[in-house]
Amino acid sequence: MNEIVTVGLGNRAYDIVIGQGVIAQTANHLAPLLPRPKVAIVTDENVARLHLTALKDVLSTGGIVHAALTLPAGESTKSWSNLSKTVEWFLDQQIERNDIVIAFGGGVIGDLVGFAAAILRRGVRYVQMPTSLLAQVDSSVGGKTAINTPHGKNLVGAFHQPSLVLADVDVLGSLTPRDFLAGYGEVMKYGLLGSLDFFEWLERNAPAMAQGDVAARISAVKTSCQMKAEIVARDEKERGDRALLNLGHTFCHALEAATGYSDRLLHGEGVAIGCALAFETSARLGLCSQESPSRVREHLAKMGMKADLADIPGDLPGAEDLVQLMYQDKKVVEGNLTFIMANGIGQSFVTQDVDIEVVKQVLSDGLDQRSA
Ligand code: GLY
Repeated sequence: MNEIVTVGLGNRAYDIVIGQGVIAQTANHLAPLLPRPKVAIVTDENVARLHLTALKDVLSTGGIVHAALTLPAGESTKSWSNLSKTVEWFLDQQIERNDIVIAFGGGVIGDLVGFAAAILRRGVRYVQMPTSLLAQVDSSVGGKTAINTPHGKNLVGAFHQPSLVLADVDVLGSLTPRDFLAGYGEVMKYGLLGSLDFFEWLERNAPAMAQGDVAARISAVKTSCQMKAEIVARDEKERGDRALLNLGHTFCHALEAATGYSDRLLHGEGVAIGCALAFETSARLGLCSQESPSRVREHLAKMGMKADLADIPGDLPGAEDLVQLMYQDKKVVEGNLTFIMANGIGQSFVTQDVDIEVVKQVLSDGLDQRSA
């Protein structure tokens, strides 16, 4: 039995289908959306190697004509050149305004294909088939699409909601433990931002989930998607509450920039450390007790994840430089950084009223631990 979460956006509402064997059901889920039995799939080399044949076989059996474009794996694929390649390929395939294109991969493929769909013939529909934990719980839901430019990550894009999200938790079994845990950083984020109950559930169940407990995986993906769906339905274009989803991200973006968007720090790992830093800052500001950041770090350590600046390998710039990197964030408004702070676990809020000297001190103390 699949779990279904609906993103309630009126006549643009769509379902997120979560379960085992969802890829094998693709033709059935797509059928009601297709004016003619034809789709174009974009994927990356890793996903193609592991799962593309299964998807193509299912579509063939269901009588759906399909073609696939396979792009290199990795963040650098979210580029102008691959956007142009994808759009031209869709045109070569004679994808019409009413057809559906499929993003079959992790966050990189989802963001790139979603943006290509947003601009192709002024907008075609697309289906997200996320294959990483991070994509299943975050990037495939909510319609944020983008590419990177030499100026930074996700700087050119569009809000373009998918028509359907098909999240097959079986594919999570092919992720490396490191990639799974990086995605887990985004799962934990939901507990921290809005639900102590969910965080406590994760404290009890996440270790088994990381070991492969499928029921726990389905439940965690479902709860994460429900929380994201509620926030997106309230604030699709991030004029308010949606910024809560950026808990830990202002710190994370600075750390990703400082580590050159490299293997030294995966995005989800940066989110996890960023959440711990956001809670530490909240405690120093007197917004929550010291118990909250300690509990976040303890949970990350139990999961075998990076929890502190000290856990990032290689050199890092000083606190002042890290703060300067934060100011490159998309969410800077009139020179003010936007932070997500917390009154406790599950009680986050958006604010621009944070003393930057406290942030600097938190970073500086974290950097000192590295040299201790
Ligand atoms: N990943 C943050 C958002 O979708 O708003």
